[in-house]
Amino acid sequence: MTDKTILKALKGETQKVPPIWMMRQAGRYLPEYRATRAEAGDFLSLCYNPDLAAEVTLQPIRRFGFDAAILFADILLLPQALGADLWFVTGEGPRLSTITEDADFAKLKGKDDIHDKLAPIYETVKILSTELPKETTLIGFAGAPWTVATYMIAGRGTPDQGPAHALREGNVELFEKVIDLLTVSTIEYLDMQIRAGAEVVKLFDSWAGSLKGEAFEKYAVEPARIITRELKRRHDNIPVIGFPREAGDGYIGFHKKTGVDCVALDNSVTPEWGAEHVQVDGCVQGNLASSHMVTGGQALIDEVRHVREACSKGPHIFNLGHGITPDADPDNVSLMIETLRENA
Ligand code: CP3
Repeated sequence: MTDKTILKALKGETQKVPPIWMMRQAGRYLPEYRATRAEAGDFLSLCYNPDLAAEVTLQPIRRFGFDAAILFADILLLPQALGADLWFVTGEGPRLSTITEDADFAKLKGKDDIHDKLAPIYETVKILSTELPKETTLIGFAGAPWTVATYMIAGRGTPDQGPAHALREGNVELFEKVIDLLTVSTIEYLDMQIRAGAEVVKLFDSWAGSLKGEAFEKYAVEPARIITRELKRRHDNIPVIGFPREAGDGYIGFHKKTGVDCVALDNSVTPEWGAEHVQVDGCVQGNLASSHMVTGGQALIDEVRHVREACSKGPHIFNLGHGITPDADPDNVSLMIETLRENA
């Protein structure tokens, strides 16, 4: 049996005080992160430096005592390991080579050829599994195939995922080759993170909300189901968190359809809605608005109590609805945690 509060929640236990961690908890709002990132040179160099990546992963644990640490890496490292070019433009975001025709796909590597490039990431996990406090859970992650595909196809972030939808509609065969390659590669990538010491894995499907109806079932639900089933088969039912962001009604039944242990809620739904429609099937994670980490004050206190209360009747992992932003105040993170743990 485990004493780790995150693992208890993932097993379906309702706790008086829910465990807490925060998306992007290692990030630019922390001065110690900015210092380590400067030492590494740039973001990708930081991701591929196991000692420094482990250091930034540990920083928010030391400062705030979160119940979980999430591996410091990025969802776009997998496409890079598959052979896509990847770079980050300051102030704008990621850029990749694009996929518009069969020849672009033909240049990519296979699912078993990714590990040389990703070896430093596994090394980071290994370091963390020995250095984290014994009560802290280590979360590994990958992007879900659809979300990663939107970046690989367009070569950048796109507000409406237009190029990925255009390929899906114009050349579904090529589109499905990309999704299938990402599905099988994600299994191998997460398999190695688990072998290195990740105790939970999370699939980030940040753009799931732009898939509707049958497309949502085929490209958000089905890959999550295949990945979850295979990882659980290989690794003694390892817990999986799904995050079909802005899925709307797609959130309903997501646990059952995919087999994930926990569904992360974004800020397009209220915690009451999440409790009624999603927590009925298992653990939920979320969903304080990250803007409170900027604005703080009594509104932050009230909203932490509100989210905690709304999700108090079932298994719950407290988190934000999306990542903390660079303009957030670390003192507000402390206030969130103090408020959550009051009357413990
Ligand atoms: O949550 C964590 O702290 C774990 C590490 C993590 C990062 N990115 C670090 C990061 C995780 C889980 C991600 C996921 C990720 N990356 C997603 C899915 C979740 C989401 O936010 O919707 C996506 C879409 C990406 C792709 C990506 N990486 C973008 C679009 C950007 C640029 C945006 C920005 O904030 O500049 C990144 C860069 C990135 N990934 C940073 C961090 C800490 C900022 C890098 C820096 O400048 O230091």
